[in-house]
Amino acid sequence: MRALVTGVAGFIGSHLAEHLLDAGHTVIGVDCFTDYYGEGLKRANLRASVDHPNFSFVETDLAKNLPDGLFDGIDSAFHLAGQPGVRSSWGDNFREYTSNNVDATQRLLEAARSSDIQRFVYSSSSSVYGNADVFPTQVSALPKPKSPYGVTKLAAEHLCGVYASNFSVPTVSLRYFTVFGPRQRPDMAFTRFFRAILAEQPVPLYGNGTQIRDFSYVEDVVRANVLAATSDVQPGSVYNVAGGSSVSMNDVIGCMRDITGQQVEIDYSGVVDGDVFRTGGDTTSTAEDLGWAPQIPLEEGLDRQWQWVLASDSQTD
Ligand code: NAD
Ligand code: UGA
Repeated sequence: MRALVTGVAGFIGSHLAEHLLDAGHTVIGVDCFTDYYGEGLKRANLRASVDHPNFSFVETDLAKNLPDGLFDGIDSAFHLAGQPGVRSSWGDNFREYTSNNVDATQRLLEAARSSDIQRFVYSSSSSVYGNADVFPTQVSALPKPKSPYGVTKLAAEHLCGVYASNFSVPTVSLRYFTVFGPRQRPDMAFTRFFRAILAEQPVPLYGNGTQIRDFSYVEDVVRANVLAATSDVQPGSVYNVAGGSSVSMNDVIGCMRDITGQQVEIDYSGVVDGDVFRTGGDTTSTAEDLGWAPQIPLEEGLDRQWQWVLASDSQTD
C-alpha cells in the first residue's frame, strides 16, 4: 500500500506511520508542526520513521496550502491532522479548530474527489456524542457535542459523508475514544499524571474523579485504521473505536499507584467547561464490519505508557 498519513508527527499519526512502514508499506507523511505542544516533541515523534527508505515527508499546512498531486499514486489516505483538545477549544482558540479540523478536511476531500484513492480514513472523535443518553453509545445515537472541538470534529465527519454521497469519495470515519499509550500528548490526563508522579507532585484532577472514560490503546487505534483501509465497507461509514475500559479517573489513579509503586497525591480543581461526564462506545459494528476488537487492556497499556515516560525522562537528563 502507498499511504498518505496526515498529522504524521502527532501522537497517533506517528504510531500509524511506524506500523505501516514495519508492514512494508510506503508512507507519505504530512504535518505542519502546529505549536499546540511544540515542534520539538513532534519532530521527536518522527524519529523512528524519518530515515526509513519508504518514508517521505511533506511539511505543509493543509488548511492553507494543499500541494498539487498530493494524492498521486496513493491507495489509502489516513487523515489524522487536526487540532485536538476538548477543554482548550473556547474563545479565540476556536479559529485553530475550524482551520485545522474543518478547512483542512474540506480541502483534502476536494482533492480526493478527483483522485484514485481506494479509502479515506478520517480520525473522528467520541466528543461528537457529548453527554450521551445511553451506554455503550451506538454510532446511530444523535450526536450532541458539548465542546466547540466536538462541533468541528462532527462538522468534518459530516463533510466526509457529503463527499461520499455526492462524489463517492470512499470515506470511513473512526470515532476514537480517549487514546493513550507512549507519546500521548502532553495536555492529556495520563501524561500529565505520570509526569507529576515522577516529579513527586500531586496529579492535577478536574472534578472529583468520578468521571468515566472508555480509554483506547494507541496500537489498537492504529489497527482499526489499517482495517478500515482494507475492509469492504460503504463510503461514508462511521465506526466507534473504543477500548472497552469505561473506568473512572479515581480508578485510573489507583492503577497508577500500583504501577509506579508511589504515593499519589491529588490536586483537585473544578470541572472544566466542555468535559463530558462519561464516554463509552458500542463497538459491535466495528467488530462485525472491520473485524476489529481492542486487544490491550487498560492496566497493560498504562504500564507501557509509564515505561515510556521513564525512558523519555532519562533521555532528557
Ligand atoms: P496530535 O496533536 O498529537 O497530532 C495532530 C497532528 O496534526 C500534529 O502533529 C499537528 O502538527 C498536525 N496538524 C494539525 N493541523 C494541521 C494542518 N492544518 N496541516 C498539517 N498538519 C496539521 O493529536 P493526536 O492526539 O495524535 O490526534 C490525532 C487525530 O485524532 C486528531 O484529528 C484528533 O482530533 C483525533 N482524535 C484524537 C483522540 C485522542 O485521544 N488523542 C481522540 C479522538 C480523536
Ligand atoms: C481526549 C482527547 O484529548 C481529545 O482530543 C479526543 O477527541 C477525546 O479524547 C475523545 O475521546 O474524543 P479527553 O477524554 O478529555 O479527550 O482526554 P484526557 O485529556 O486524557 O482527559 C481524560 C479525563 O481526565 C477527563 O475527564 C479530564 O477532565 C481529566 N483530566 C484531564 C484531568 O483530570 N486532569 C488533567 O490534567 C487532564
